[in-house]
Amino acid sequence: MSRYADAFARSITDPDGFWGEAAAAIDWYQRPTAVLDRSNPPIYRWFPDGVVNTCFNALDRHVAAGRGGQPALVYDSPVTGTSRTFTYAELLDEVAHFAGLLRELGVGAGDRVVIYLPMVPEAVIAMLACARIGAVHSVVFGGFAANELALRIDDAAPKVIVSASCGIEVNRVLPYKPMLDRAIGLANHRPQHCVILQRPQVAADLVAGRDVEWAPAVAAAKPADCVPLAATDPLYILYTSGTTARPKGVVRDNGGHAVALRWSMANIYDTGPGEVFWAASDVGWVVGHSYIVYAPLLAGCTTVLYEGKPVGTPDAGAFWRVVAEHGVKALFTAPTAFRAIRREDPAGEHIRRYDLSGLRYLFLAGERLDPETYHWAADQLGIPVIDHWWQTETGWPIAANLRGLEPMPVKPGSPTVPVPGYDVRVLDAAGDEAPDGQDGEIAVRLPLPPGCLPTLWGDDERYVESYLSRHPGFYTTGDGGYRDADGYLYVMGRIDDVINVAGHRLSTGAIEQVLASHPAVAECAVIGVPDDLKGEVPRGFVVLKAGAATDPQTLRAELVALVRDQIGAVASFRDVAVVPALPKTRSGKILRKTMRGIAAGREEPVPSTIDDPGTLDALRPILKS
Ligand code: COA
Ligand code: AMP
Repeated sequence: MSRYADAFARSITDPDGFWGEAAAAIDWYQRPTAVLDRSNPPIYRWFPDGVVNTCFNALDRHVAAGRGGQPALVYDSPVTGTSRTFTYAELLDEVAHFAGLLRELGVGAGDRVVIYLPMVPEAVIAMLACARIGAVHSVVFGGFAANELALRIDDAAPKVIVSASCGIEVNRVLPYKPMLDRAIGLANHRPQHCVILQRPQVAADLVAGRDVEWAPAVAAAKPADCVPLAATDPLYILYTSGTTARPKGVVRDNGGHAVALRWSMANIYDTGPGEVFWAASDVGWVVGHSYIVYAPLLAGCTTVLYEGKPVGTPDAGAFWRVVAEHGVKALFTAPTAFRAIRREDPAGEHIRRYDLSGLRYLFLAGERLDPETYHWAADQLGIPVIDHWWQTETGWPIAANLRGLEPMPVKPGSPTVPVPGYDVRVLDAAGDEAPDGQDGEIAVRLPLPPGCLPTLWGDDERYVESYLSRHPGFYTTGDGGYRDADGYLYVMGRIDDVINVAGHRLSTGAIEQVLASHPAVAECAVIGVPDDLKGEVPRGFVVLKAGAATDPQTLRAELVALVRDQIGAVASFRDVAVVPALPKTRSGKILRKTMRGIAAGREEPVPSTIDDPGTLDALRPILKS
């Protein structure tokens, strides 16, 4: 049996043995005596009696083992022209002091802290400081507008919010503080304090009594030590887009997460202590949580935090400069970043300007890796280009080519095989397993491995209803695809109303809610349509209220501005059409799937359930345009 087949089979037939052994790579205050708690299906918990601290495993442990002088975090910021390296000892010191400040502000184990920061080292410091004292962080991506931040503040009910005076997008300074103040004004929940990082580009106005300035407050704080926590205690909440406008608070626990991520660094990413790992993502997304912050530090690597873009900061050679300058062994990003680089540097001239001999792997995830982008990246770099598939909910890959365990031949278009722990099945409409080669829904048989979401924040019921009830005994991934005769998976896209824009996950339902709030709009639909650069972009269709005297061009501009204001620039919402009617079933459901298919260039049949085929006929040319 191959190493992969052996590990996979054991992870499914003997998960307790498999993950019990993997748990030995983590330092515990109290080693778990039980591995998987099966007492409350369909909710499972890993390492129920283990006692652990994630920050201890990410920092203190390495310092205690004599690695304090090794670089832990490299901050590289072309947008501010700075680069700074923190050793493990330095990062530990910063984190302990910030943890001390949080304590002084009244934050204890189980309290929530919302972090709304750009890509600065303070984001990593704040996350680890929360982990240190058992506070539950919830990082909100900087590209989200005040309204989205407010939704998350209300759900997480944080005692403290950590933010900055501004973010920097290429050459634009974006003040964050007015956005934060607006969000707090919109939310029902009020934080007790905000800690604000004043960046040199903009000085934020502080609210007396509530706001605390980062630098002086941390300088005055006493360092705090790690707090022993139950392995099942929450480490963080990360909100992600579901099919409705209300984001889902994905919960991550401490023990299972540390075990799974540590295992993944060696077995999937083949990167170990002292080696440099760079996930060119954002701390606001799951990739940033897992592979900028936690996994590389748990494994004793050096992680790179990059405040810049693949292009424009200053050019399409930006990634190669960072790789060469910091000796990156493995680069992880989204295919869209490569499409952007390729568009500006099709011949790869920038690539040849740098010494990339240390770069061994390119890992890509976040959206489907189209074979064209795969071939370009593989040809230009001459190293393994590894597509792998995962989601915010799982926190680490579901399918991958496991470079550390057993490298396998790459098949372009496939993220290769299920990772040990994930019993992946392709199901047909009846819930039976689909034969090889046949498209279906991709599901994972329960229990999910450690590291995956144990529930949604404060809402077990929504967790079960959203993910576990469609096919009892299975976790619904929301993705569709098939498996080939060699067991390779092909993930072809979402089967629900979630879309992926430049690797950013968005809900069409949330955009629809914003469009519907416009006084002239009677009803609307938003679908994802293919885009050469971003993979997919949202496109809106609105039907006007009878008698709405609005100029279509003005209305379109208003709707675009409304989405930008309510959801954020990151939605990339630029295209909305005014149409006479939307195609619906006889029971009134909008035929979004059919619309999506036509927009993607497929010859969609007219569904037998359609109420008025004329509505679809009228829409066809608009969808195809
Ligand atoms: N804070 C504030 N605004 C942000 C932001 C942030 N953190 N991130 C993005 N935005 C804004 C951008 O400035 C842009 O605004 P604009 O419409 O005023 O120009 C808008 O949101 C859309 O941003 P983006 O999707 O990044 O598109 P882009 O056209 O600026 O850049 C790429 C295109 C391909 C270069 C860019 O999407 C990219 O680097 N993608 C990598 C994907 C990635 O890292 N995904 C994470 C998962 S692994
Ligand atoms: P997110 O939760 O933002 O990480 O988005 C997860 C979604 O991105 C998945 O459900 C997929 O639809 C898509 N996705 C992520 N990685 C891949 C991949 N390698 N291939 C295809 N789709 C992917």
